[in-house]
Amino acid sequence: MSTTEAEPPFLAACRRRPVPHTPVWIMRQAGRYLPEYRKIRSEVDFLTLTKTPELAAEVTLQPVRRFGMDAAILFSDIMTPVEGMGVKLHFNPGPVIETPIRSLAQVDALRVPDPEEGVPFVLETVRMLSKALPREAPLIGFAGAPFTLFCYLIQGSGSKTFAEAKGFLFAEPEASRRLLEKLAETMVLYLEAQARAGAKALMIFDSWAGLLGPEQYAEFAFPAVKRIIDALRPLDVPLIYFPNQGATLLETVRESGADVVGIDWRLPLSRARAILGDEVAVQGNLDPSALFAPRDVLGKEVDRVLDEAGTAPGHIFNLGHGIERTTDPDAVAFLVDRVHNGERVP
Ligand code: CP3
Repeated sequence: MSTTEAEPPFLAACRRRPVPHTPVWIMRQAGRYLPEYRKIRSEVDFLTLTKTPELAAEVTLQPVRRFGMDAAILFSDIMTPVEGMGVKLHFNPGPVIETPIRSLAQVDALRVPDPEEGVPFVLETVRMLSKALPREAPLIGFAGAPFTLFCYLIQGSGSKTFAEAKGFLFAEPEASRRLLEKLAETMVLYLEAQARAGAKALMIFDSWAGLLGPEQYAEFAFPAVKRIIDALRPLDVPLIYFPNQGATLLETVRESGADVVGIDWRLPLSRARAILGDEVAVQGNLDPSALFAPRDVLGKEVDRVLDEAGTAPGHIFNLGHGIERTTDPDAVAFLVDRVHNGERVP
């Protein structure tokens, strides 16, 4: 690339460079709130959709086409690469593990698969998308953070508290560490493979990080994430880390080396930036419920997020967590226009 002007706004913002407008994409932007997604989903189940490159690429493109998003996110799931480790699972609608992991022997039996063998369909989807996407909407590849994957593997399904998984952390610290390390190793290979196949940025979803107190986070969850980020650093693609409900963990997160930190709606971006310092960009953080408000209220909420982000470069507009499936797509169109046409350009 010869000039920074030519750089897509999303990638420029990841690198804290000036942008012509604040870039925007939204978590779970491909999904059931879109009629065109539901149409495809009425014909195939979720797992088949993630394993059929033509269809996975199509649903990845849907929100980019409809809204002019500044980034696309690969259509897949955080649990997809775990199947290749030897874990049997299905979705109902969240992940369900056939035999939850509850012993060191089960941890030791897990494989660290070569992504070309374990998830060839994901890499094929990435290759198709890197040809099909417009340059202005770079593809974000992603993986689950080791602790979040650990939560599902041990608990066996979604949970409000993940009591079994958290209990394992305290009762079996050695087995826990081994599992987290194995997951980190697998995710390094998985994310590297996505970047080689054409992903322009990589995001690590730590959806359940906020279940941990700062001590357990720093001792177990954080080192596994740091290991991934350190291993991926030489790739020279922006790395985004999203520690959901992580307001009390940000002093530790600051040391992660991520280029961008995703912030949920519980913490204003100005406060996140004050803790994280100016060496990192932020992504977020409109409450997804604001999309149910009348347009004037939604507009004010969008402006407030832009104001909170301030004028320093390095803000990517997003929701504070995934979009709700009952959201009106027209509210999303309004949001994207408001961000793009806002006067608050960093
Ligand atoms: O548009 C995108 O964001 C890309 C695709 C994507 C999905 N899952 C598709 C999906 C991404 C990035 C994910 C990540 C994911 N999956 C996370 C991390 C992000 C977060 O929300 O915190 C987690 C925790 C999961 C696990 C998971 N998968 C759950 C809890 C569920 C059920 C909840 C729901 O939204 O229905 C899934 C299933 C899933 N993953 C769906 C989609 C579109 C719904 C499947 C369907 O069509 O029935």
